[in-house]
Amino acid sequence: MSRLVVISNRVAVPTADAAGNQGGLAVALLSALRENGGIWFGWSGETTPEFTGDIRTTQGGGVTTATIDLEEQDIDEYYNGYANRTLWPLFHYRIDLTEFERDFEGGYRRVNERFADTVMPLVEDDDLVWVHDYHLIPLGRELRRRGMKNRLGFFLHTPWPPARLLTSLPSHHKLVESMFAYDVVGFHTEDWLDSFRRYVVDIMGGTIDEDGCATVGDRTVRTIVAPIGIDTAEFEAAAASPEARFAHDRMHMSSTGRSLIVGVDRLDYSKGLRERLLGYERFLANNPDRRALVYLLQIAPPSRADVDTYQEIRSDLDALSGRINGEYADIDWVPIRYVNRGYPRSELAGIYRAARIALVTPLRDGMNLVAKEYVAAQDPEDPGVLILSSFAGAAAQLKEAVLINPYSAEDMADAITAALEMPRAERIRRWQAMIENVRAEDVFWWCRLFLDALEGREVVGDTAQ
Ligand code: G6P
Repeated sequence: MSRLVVISNRVAVPTADAAGNQGGLAVALLSALRENGGIWFGWSGETTPEFTGDIRTTQGGGVTTATIDLEEQDIDEYYNGYANRTLWPLFHYRIDLTEFERDFEGGYRRVNERFADTVMPLVEDDDLVWVHDYHLIPLGRELRRRGMKNRLGFFLHTPWPPARLLTSLPSHHKLVESMFAYDVVGFHTEDWLDSFRRYVVDIMGGTIDEDGCATVGDRTVRTIVAPIGIDTAEFEAAAASPEARFAHDRMHMSSTGRSLIVGVDRLDYSKGLRERLLGYERFLANNPDRRALVYLLQIAPPSRADVDTYQEIRSDLDALSGRINGEYADIDWVPIRYVNRGYPRSELAGIYRAARIALVTPLRDGMNLVAKEYVAAQDPEDPGVLILSSFAGAAAQLKEAVLINPYSAEDMADAITAALEMPRAERIRRWQAMIENVRAEDVFWWCRLFLDALEGREVVGDTAQ
């Protein structure tokens, strides 16, 4: 089997129980690399006064990481700029929050060139090279320009926006053209893939053949759907660990008989946190008799704190949770426990298991692995109910969740009521259908699906949903 070189902006510290705000992508890639062996290359998370290209390597848990520091200006223009002020909001359909600055684009190009220059010498002839996410879309083209002949894949972990939105990006053509440097490009859902293909056909005048190969002029790239999963076996084991049991019991004790509703998200406007609190507030308003029988634990570790839209959502949620608590709390009950920090995965697993309901309500989300982790953590005899936004990529697989429109506070309030009333037999039936999917289509399945396509092998489940 070929060695794998994974390249992504952020490289996770390879410990099984890293706490905090690392996204699901990081957790999933660690699992994938452990299985294949190879290198994970990316930004160290540190800045340096002047870019040196010095590579720091670490080994641990079967994974070698190689990281570089970036300049302050790189972080401003590339990470906080083009990646998180331009592409992230645009790809999540938030054109109202999207900033278009030429400097950002320059920084994005520069960092992609720097990544290409420094990773090139680490790559051996037979390696499979797998680039991840919106930070590094043009990296494949930069690597080809430097003579790389390896099989080269790209996976997008966010939604791909409809062509009508994408064309508002001044350099949309160049960005999409650069994706043709890859052999395979993957998306989480049919929806995102369809939007990409529509762009290729409608805007670039290209064609799509029956194998999913997109062709423009003399350049072809294979396009596939590969929905990412979690390391389900590991997460189920984490849910049975002493740490999980401790967290579970701690929740139970502090719940004093009330049903726990849980939400766990990076503090990001795409996660629908505001809408979630408003939906929960509507539930409280509509159900005076049920008020003191539930409480919401919202865990929301801060994210991308240098970007002003993230500062705004943070103060917005501070105010909103405070207002709802002020209005509805009693001397012995607070409706919302709002916590701005991350927790180790095994503790989270225990919290998920203690929760009668999970609220996963993004306005737009590439996949959402919290939904899958919640399912994996449940007690088979008495599982909780997953309330899931139909705008999360995960909704294409977790069809037995209670699917809602997160923009509707009424919809959310009704779903909470239905979940609280749901008989055990129905909870078990829904959970069984979901856990079957979460077990079958786990992170290893996802990884194989993509790497088989990258190695030119037949992709079974190309249209997997
Ligand atoms: C999402 C993105 C990832 C990113 C993660 C955390 O899951 O798809 O690429 O790593 O969020 O965000 P951050 O900006 O902290 O890396």
